[in-house]
Amino acid sequence: MAISKTFYITTPIYYPSGKLHIGNAYTTLYCDVLKRYKSLQGFDTYYLTGMDEHGKKVETSAQDAGVPAQDHVDRIAEETKKLWTLMDIEYDDFIRTTEKRHKTVVQTFFEQLLKQKDIYLGHYEGHYCMHCESFFTETQVGPDHICPDCGRPTQLLKEESYFLKLSKYAKKLHDYIIEHPDFIQPESRRNEVLAFIDNGLNDLSVSRTTFDWGIKVVSDPKHVVYVWLDALTNYISALGVLDDEPHLYEKYWKGDEVLHVVGKDILRFHAIYWPIMLMALDIPITFKLYAHGWYMMKDGKMSKSKGGAIYPETFINRYGLDAMRYYMIRELPFGSDGLFAPDAFLERTNFDLANDFGNLLNRSVAMVNQYLTGQVTQKNAQTAFDADLEDQLAHTVIAYDKAMDAYNPAAALQEVFTLISRANKYIDETTPWVLAKDETQHDVLENVLYHLIESLRVIGILLIPVMPESSRTLFGYIHADEAHQTFESRVFGAQPLFNVEKKVTPLFPRLDVKKELEALKTPVEKPAEAEAETERTPMIAIDDFAKIDLRVGVVTACRAHENADRLLVSTVDLGEETPRQIVSGISKFYTPEQMVGKKVIVVANLKPVTLRGERSEGMLLAGSNAKTLEVVELETLNPGDSVR
Ligand code: MSP
Repeated sequence: MAISKTFYITTPIYYPSGKLHIGNAYTTLYCDVLKRYKSLQGFDTYYLTGMDEHGKKVETSAQDAGVPAQDHVDRIAEETKKLWTLMDIEYDDFIRTTEKRHKTVVQTFFEQLLKQKDIYLGHYEGHYCMHCESFFTETQVGPDHICPDCGRPTQLLKEESYFLKLSKYAKKLHDYIIEHPDFIQPESRRNEVLAFIDNGLNDLSVSRTTFDWGIKVVSDPKHVVYVWLDALTNYISALGVLDDEPHLYEKYWKGDEVLHVVGKDILRFHAIYWPIMLMALDIPITFKLYAHGWYMMKDGKMSKSKGGAIYPETFINRYGLDAMRYYMIRELPFGSDGLFAPDAFLERTNFDLANDFGNLLNRSVAMVNQYLTGQVTQKNAQTAFDADLEDQLAHTVIAYDKAMDAYNPAAALQEVFTLISRANKYIDETTPWVLAKDETQHDVLENVLYHLIESLRVIGILLIPVMPESSRTLFGYIHADEAHQTFESRVFGAQPLFNVEKKVTPLFPRLDVKKELEALKTPVEKPAEAEAETERTPMIAIDDFAKIDLRVGVVTACRAHENADRLLVSTVDLGEETPRQIVSGISKFYTPEQMVGKKVIVVANLKPVTLRGERSEGMLLAGSNAKTLEVVELETLNPGDSVR
């Protein structure tokens, strides 16, 4: 048996700094799509993702939440894995930088680099951004001392630090990039990196003494390893690079194709620091790097820490996973930014999925039942349009593979939908309803319907990487045995006979865009139980309502309740002399740091109670349904203002 080629694909490892939004989920989904495609193509694939769990920010948010840092990251890692399950992500390993298997590798590498003098001890003085955990020069921060990466204020800091000799390897890296034109993609990013190197590389500070939550430098434990050196190592620590028998490392890192997928904001770390680390460690650079653009919202950038992001769960729960997977992959062009707009999402779902794809399936299966008896075979009775459809199919498969092989699934999807449109046009051209009226045209009719169902089968295979569930359902409707839907069977005529199901339930029901946009604006739905309760709730007079003192408050601090998993304890400023302490059962939906800064509505005249030992002097208003909960927020009013 021939040995399969290998394909190793990685996502960046995510910071545990809040709920992952559509932007972060994009990278993970993109990698899942490529992994599924490569598996179909016959590659032996390995997909790594994980969490980047060290650093000052993590330490601070755990402290604010009043929990040990390890508990804090454990919880977020579990939430993250749940999201990947919801999104049907087929990763093979989930590495966490707090795991022993990773720490040992980082510590060993650090000592090795120290010993060979590629790392040396020095002092760092510069403008430090706590958020980005990076130092910047005077020129970079400008007169206002603003972080050039995130726009937050920086502080002037001097600390003892170890440095990695980037400068020593700058020329070697430059040559490597020139000699390997496809190392960094797209080309515009490659040029950015070359320009950055040409500007001169300063040695990189690779340790910190200002916090503890990190991997200790073995020979000098007051230092912890700087997050990027720690994080980047994950790509090989997860493969057991220093194991006695590093099977995975040998097989996948030294295998046929290795791809790191990253967002454009972390390009420099992967295109400069990581290859230099590998050069210094004498480990082969086997990877290619693809930097994708960002999903933006209409009003700008999505941010985990600043709130105001779109979360995948909202769309998956309401419109199904495949609609979401389709939109996310289809809408972000190769290498550039894209817009995540709910109206565009709804329109794409309607036009591409419900109309073009869904209707092709519904109509074709319905006609096989209506005009034949649910069975269709290949017939030698051609129409003038067959050759064109068959050519389009063959062309689509080639163009699709070309796009996928160039890591461009958005373009591959475009090709599939060209074929879908062609097949829909074929129905209009061949008019099966007219053929059905003429007995002598029976074979021609069967030939036409065969063309449709066979095209659908191939479309199903092409859609496996992006919409695995819909493909499976489609195969079920046309009785195409899943085991035979392979890379090689994407040719017209591979399956000569189909027995179709009697009835098709539309894969993607048509959505009422106006109604859905309203619903998405106010995602607070009433679940069945809540509705029943509302019916039983007695009517009240306006005077009764007036008894409730609703006030605007700002959450100034928040932590997890020590004795109750479900509860958060918030400090809320209501414009009174002393702020109030309010306990709420919302920890499943918000981290403490997400609560801080929120302008909330408080029931200010609720009798104080003690909840598991913590006094609660009011209540925050929140909307909820069976799946989620949202704290009601205001924008411009001030603490103490009344709400009626
Ligand atoms: N921990 C580092 C990565 C270390 S890898 C050795 C990190 N983590 S992150 O959680 O902040 O970001 C993870 C990824 O999400 C990055 O690739 C980033 O580009 C991506 N995105 C964050 N916002 C995004 C969008 N709005 N759109 C697309 N991707 C975005 O950086």
